[in-house]
Parts: sequence; structure tokens; C-alpha cells
Amino acid sequence: MPGSCLPDRPKRAAFSLERGAAVSPQTPGLFDDLPPQLAERPKPLAPAEQAQALRAQLHQHAHAYYTLDAPEIPDAEYDRLFRALQVLESEHPALRTPDSPTQRVGGQILDAFAQVRHHVPMLSIRTETDTEASGAEAFDTRIRKELGLSESEPPVDYVGELKFDGLAMSLRYEGGMLVQAATRGDGETGEDVTTNIRMIGQIPLRLAANAPTVLEVRGEVYMRRDDFEALNERQRQRIAAGTKGEKTFVNPRNAAAGAVRQLDSGIAAERPLSFFAYGLGDITPASEGGPQWSSHYDMLMQLKAWGFPVAEQTAFVQGAAGLVAFHQRMAAERDALPYDIDGVVYKVNDLAQQLRLGFVTREPRWAVAHKYPAQEEMTTVLAIDVQVGRTGKLTPVAKLSPVFVGGVTVTNATLHNELEARRKDVRVGDTVIVRRAGDVIPEVVSVVLDRRPPEAPLFTMLTHCPVCGSLAEREEGEADHRCTGGLFCSAQRKQAIWHFAHRRAMDVDGLGDKLVDQLVDTGQVKTLADLYHLKLDSLANIDRMAEKSAINLLEALEKSKTTTLGRFLFSLGIRHVGEATAKELARHFGQLDAIMVASEDALLQVADVGPVVAHSIRTFFDQPHNRKVVQALRDAGVIWPEGEALAPTEMPLAGITVVLTGTLQSMGRDEAKEQLESLGAKVAGSVSKKTHYVVAGAEAGSKLDKAQALGVPVLDDVGLALLLAGQKP
Ligand code: IVH
Repeated sequence: MPGSCLPDRPKRAAFSLERGAAVSPQTPGLFDDLPPQLAERPKPLAPAEQAQALRAQLHQHAHAYYTLDAPEIPDAEYDRLFRALQVLESEHPALRTPDSPTQRVGGQILDAFAQVRHHVPMLSIRTETDTEASGAEAFDTRIRKELGLSESEPPVDYVGELKFDGLAMSLRYEGGMLVQAATRGDGETGEDVTTNIRMIGQIPLRLAANAPTVLEVRGEVYMRRDDFEALNERQRQRIAAGTKGEKTFVNPRNAAAGAVRQLDSGIAAERPLSFFAYGLGDITPASEGGPQWSSHYDMLMQLKAWGFPVAEQTAFVQGAAGLVAFHQRMAAERDALPYDIDGVVYKVNDLAQQLRLGFVTREPRWAVAHKYPAQEEMTTVLAIDVQVGRTGKLTPVAKLSPVFVGGVTVTNATLHNELEARRKDVRVGDTVIVRRAGDVIPEVVSVVLDRRPPEAPLFTMLTHCPVCGSLAEREEGEADHRCTGGLFCSAQRKQAIWHFAHRRAMDVDGLGDKLVDQLVDTGQVKTLADLYHLKLDSLANIDRMAEKSAINLLEALEKSKTTTLGRFLFSLGIRHVGEATAKELARHFGQLDAIMVASEDALLQVADVGPVVAHSIRTFFDQPHNRKVVQALRDAGVIWPEGEALAPTEMPLAGITVVLTGTLQSMGRDEAKEQLESLGAKVAGSVSKKTHYVVAGAEAGSKLDKAQALGVPVLDDVGLALLLAGQKP
């Protein structure tokens, strides 16, 4: 929250400034810069009333910020109110109450945490690893059996919750005030971490008047991923600056646990934590005026109403089918959550049924946790190799001791470039945390510095290309080093050939990267045009190449000769000329010769071509060896229909921008893109206000949501067909 007062949280929303409040200045100057509606009150209030009013406002704003995600005043305003209360309390120490927001700011250093005996033990939960969702069915079967339900009886009501990856916490409120926060410990006795927990802005310090006299809320303290990244970045800077005793954290859970159990509350205050409520401990019994709920879900909703964060994914579901659907939905949503979960939790909803089911040892029989496979694992860096890309980009890649993470065995993780490798300070011999979430390429999250072997060498980028020995250079303002060898470099040559043969370029079926390696390594292919002079007998000499495959390859090469100008241009691998730009160039100029001689100014007339791209195209065709490659390809028989450039505005879908998302029934996404573009439409990757249509197939995701939010028309397969037929859908 605001400035220095509360731990920072990056997410902010728009403000609304309309809020009056019952505070009036008494100490001159103190409220001078308050907004007029606060400053101009006729009758001065007594200090006690002032303090009370300030506390009420600060509580309310903290709630709006942390729980509702809808702050009502800007940070600076909050800070002023906060400081006003601080001054008032220091002038009148008797006014300082334990629930005052000023008490969230740490300062005390403890020797050890006091022990807390839980009034109601903190139970554990039965945990099973379930990647198949079949565990949900087994759980439901067991529950039905234990409740003695026959098949004809209706499905059991459940609550599906997320299994947060943090640490369990019990928050005790007496008379509506937070009096104690305790860790789980051994379930019977935990540690009193109240001081640190008070600093979590999301945790109410005081409850509404209708809260029971005694209330223990159980939940999970955790750290959001963005907060974790920022914390680790800060830690890295401290380490780099030579601050002693600092370290980076392995994962958000570890960072959260460290913050909660931090004896120096000043340090704890710098580590932003969050909280989700999911259960109850001790509570005033109904017979003594306490609340009476009949279901777990109702209880959670009441906790929410009292200001405790309850995850919005929490769902009331019915029967095994409901649990399975919840499991699948959460598995799909998992990667998009701003915090880590390690699975889902199913709980029987009806509290009377929970009571009948009871406990086994320390686990309730009415709940089970189903874990997902881990997305982060630890492994060691065996080497840091430098790979050479198509345009000569040198990429440091950490070679890892094989590790199973996120469902696959990972042996490589890109470090992107020298700066990035240095920022994370990954070294050979290091133990690292590798993360693979969803389909995202694996990445090194952080180094476990405690385990660094002595004298592990700092990573430095090579000064020369590891493949051809040419000088490696980093251009001013760029992060990447590049090999300056061009097509002299066999690594670049291989990548260039592979790109040339790509399905969206010349589309040479069967020319995969292994074969390209062999063709280049055996010296059969030195330039792109050499591909079209390959002979059956020399191909058959290549390892493991069956004659049939050799014939197929020659046929595919022959077929690829008839192409389009757009594909041909794309296949040349000109830096900054992607598929869309190549098509635009072809459409604009109509003929290759026109492009080859076009000035940068002429190139700038093409949609999507800016100065960098224009310069790159000009430079490419200015090189005699590149012109030779083009000529050699034409000589080998590569042809395309050349025509007059069609003025872009004459095309039926000119000026229309379309975004494709999800799986279409009528055609693949590539085909849809090609057809739309051939009619002059632009197919963009993301939705904005400028998008004319979003074509959404099955399982469309965030792009569809964005289209709906922006009011962009959404088309299905039929709408797409109409569009392609030149009709307005
Ligand atoms: S319920 C009586 N619900 O997982 C059941 N636990 O052993 C008590 N956890 O210690 C736990 N998310 O720290 C429950 N939605 C959730 C949870 C959850 C995470 C943690 C909790 C507990 C551990 C399981």
C-alpha cells in the first residue's frame, strides 16, 4: 500500500476521490494539506475522536485497496492520513490502540517467538497426487460410502478450493480485534507471529460489530509471484552491492515462510505477503450467541463479508462430476494465477455431514488435497553453452543435469543473453531452480547461492563465434551478441537453410534440422541454391537416409520451386522481415526486381515497414553475395507469379484487422490467416480497440475476453466464411 506505510503491492486500479470523512484539524498545520472535504469541518474534535476517525478511514481504505482491489484515494493521500494518525498517537500515546494501522509498521526485534497452544488443533489434510482427475471420483465414492448414501440418492455437495502454496496461519480475534496470529507448528503448538502478520494489509485488524466474540480464522499466508520476483531482484542488488548476509529466495513459499518467521519486523515489513482464508478454528458456540452456519460455503462467504480474502475460484460443486470439472478448470487456470498453487482441495460442504465423517488421526475425512505435478525443481548447471541463431544471435544456454519438471524432462534452459545471465548470476556448478509452467519454455528462476561451489566462475560472453570463430559483437543499445560471420558461419547457414525450408517459407517437406546439419556438414549444401542441385546418389550416401526418403525429398524440393513472392521473400531470412512484412512487400511492389532496387524511402511506403526494417532490406540487397543467392535460386527454377502490384486499397478486406483465437472447425488457423491476408486483411496477434473482428473457435481464451471487454465484434466459423466471401458478417 501507499508509500512507506505498508508493504508495497504493485497492482493498482483507478481512484475515485469522492469520500468525505469525519476528521477535523486540531494541531495547526497537521491537516493543512488534507482535501477540502476533510479540512473544512466546523467544530474541532477531541484528539480521541480524531484518532478514531482517522483509524476508521485508514481501515476502510486498506480494505478497499487490499481486499476489493479498488482503492478510493491516491497513495499520497493515504500517507497523509497515516502520518496524521502517527503524530496524534505520539502526542497522545494513550490513544494508540493495538488495532491501529500504525501498528502494522514493524520496528521491534524479537529474540524468539513465543509458543502458542492452539485452542483447536490445526489439522493437516490428506494429500494425493492426481494428474488424471480420477482421484476426485475415488474421493466421492469414499464419501458416499461413509455417509451410507445409496446410488439413487442425490449427489453430495462439495466446495472446491485452491491448494495455496504458502504456510498455514491461525488468526485469533477477540471482541472483534486481532489478538494473535500463530503458525501451525506441530498442530498443537505453534509460534506467535502476530507482529509480522499485522503487516499484511489484507488481514483485517478489527472486524465488524456482528463478528462473534471469539473467532479464529484459518488460512494461508503466501507471496504473489510478482512480489516474489521484485523481492529477489532487490536481494540480488543487495548481494551485488556487497551487503552481508543477504540471499535470494528459492520460491514464493520459502520467501513467505522466511518473512513470517522474521524476528526483525522491520525486515519482515519489506517482504510483501498476502492471505487467503479457508477455514475456522475456535469460535464462540452458537449456544453462546456465536454464528450458526449449515455449510462450509456459507461460512466462507461470511468470512469474506467480514473482510477476509477468499479466493474467487472457490466454488460450490456437486458430485464427482462437479469435482472433476473443478479440477480441470483449475489445472487450466493455474498458470494464469498471480500466485502459486500446488493443487486443489475438495471439502464436503454440509457441516452436519462433516461432523458425521469425523477425523482419522490428524486429518479430516471430509477433505482431500489433490496435487498437480510440480512446476519447479532444483538441479545443477553442468555447463553454459553458447548457441548461434539464424541471424547470428549468440544465446547462452544452461546445460542442466536432467530434471523432471512441469511434466517433462528438462536438460536445457535459455539464459537469453549475457545481461540476463549476469543478472541472475548463473554459473557452472550452481544449483538452480528451474521452472516450467504450462507450455512456456523452461527457465532458470534463481540460483541457490548457499550451494554455490567455491570459485564457480562468473559467466562471460565469448568474444568469438563458437562455430566459425568470427568476431562476436554487441551493437550499441542491444542486449544480444551476434556472430559477424554471416553465411560464412556454418551455424548461420544451417539455420538459414532450415528457415528457407520452413512450412511457411518455401515449404520443403521432409527437410528437418537433422538433415540440414548433415547436408551442411558433408559440404553438399553451401548456399541455398545448392539444395536444388542435390542428386539421388549423393543423398543416399548420407547416414540413415533411405532411398525412398531421398526420392521424397527431391520431389518436395521440386514442388517447392513454384511458390509466391511473399513466401520467397520470407524464405531469404532478411533480418526483421517476418512473414507478414514479406507478404506486405510482395503485395505492394508486385515484383521482386522492384523490391531489390527500392530505396529506403520507397520501402517506407509499405504498411508495417519502419526505418529499421527498410534499412535492413536495403542492406540485404546491397550485398552482392545476397543478390547472387537470389539469382542462383531463380536459375535453379524457383518461380512465382509476378504481377502488377495490386493497390492495397482495392482488395476486398483492405483496412480490416482481424484476430484469430481458439480452434476453428472449418479450417486451421494458418489457412484462415492466409485466406484473410490474400483478401487484404491484416491478421494481428493481439486484440485492441483497432481490431475490427475477433474470430473465435473452440477454447478461445483471453483474446475473446478482451474482445468482449472492448466491444469488438466476435465471429464464429460462419462469420468467418461470410467475411471471406466478401460479405459483412
Ligand atoms: S484445509 C482441516 N484448505 O495445505 C483442514 N488447507 O496439509 C485443514 N492448504 O496445512 C486444511 N490450501 O497449509 C486447507 N484450501 C485449503 C488449503 C490448505 C492450502 C495447506 C494448509 C495445510 C496444508 C495441507
